[in-house]
Amino acid sequence: MKKILVATEKPFSKVAVDKIRAVVEGSGNQLVLCEKYKTEEELLAAVADVDALIIRSDIVNDRVVEAAKNLKIVVRAGAGYDNVDLQACSAKGIVVMNTPGQNANAVAELVFGLLIFSLRKHFNGSSGSELRGNNIGIHAYGNIGRYVAKIAAGFGMNVYAYDPFVPAEQMKEEGVIPVSSVEELYKTCRIVSLHIPATEQTKRSVNKALLSLMPEGAILVNTARKEVINEEELVEVMEKRPDFIYLSDIVPGNVDHFKGEFEGRYFFTAKKMGAQTEEANVNAGVAAANQIVKYFATGDETFRVNP
Ligand code: 3PG
Repeated sequence: MKKILVATEKPFSKVAVDKIRAVVEGSGNQLVLCEKYKTEEELLAAVADVDALIIRSDIVNDRVVEAAKNLKIVVRAGAGYDNVDLQACSAKGIVVMNTPGQNANAVAELVFGLLIFSLRKHFNGSSGSELRGNNIGIHAYGNIGRYVAKIAAGFGMNVYAYDPFVPAEQMKEEGVIPVSSVEELYKTCRIVSLHIPATEQTKRSVNKALLSLMPEGAILVNTARKEVINEEELVEVMEKRPDFIYLSDIVPGNVDHFKGEFEGRYFFTAKKMGAQTEEANVNAGVAAANQIVKYFATGDETFRVNP
């Protein structure tokens, strides 16, 4: 019997936890929970004797890896695994996986929630504007980008995408206009939605040079990671351009710069909310549990992300 820990500072819904429990206990394993923990110490204590770990944006650093003496597998219930120290895990022979696509629709829907809230002037009673007819640029056409494209088409938007890893033909077949450079995407689209992961290559890559290219009435939507933005340069652009709007599912590091002067031109969710739907919790949580059970039963390493 393996001991499987769900460690979630931002917990899954109860329905999702019940379903995770059914998978874990149904396969003869034991489920333990460490939800809404407040300190790293609590997490270090919780991982001490577990064989497997299910997390969300929870930080798995070298201290966690060191404390988890029996740990064999970590599954990030979600897409981005920039919160896991892959090297530390690999050094201890710990397998790391994610659950790609499982919460993609939830994140894509939030993009449009943020956009409508902003275009309708935060529902303050004055006249806003519509999505229809606008150009939307999808920066990275992966699982989330694809859902964003489909929803945008439903709104009657012109959908562009940039992704050097996806063939242009495939985008065209899916009704999306491919652009051949990231600069072209920002130049063409009044609305840009970010779906790039936070990697050494992408960190701080959304900078003044790109943002300055965006047409009048620019709206940048960030449901990805704050690290991909050059936040100082974003502030510079917003200072120069009173038309520029920034909507984010992640509070920026330099949030104080936005208050006052930029009032009405930004919105930040208090906590990352993109994947915080019951459906996404169930999809990602149950997928994570199934991947762990299968790994222990058969050694299946599908969705492994560390070397
Ligand atoms: C992801 O990478 O899957 C999303 O950012 C969701 O993160 P969360 O599970 O912490 O909400």
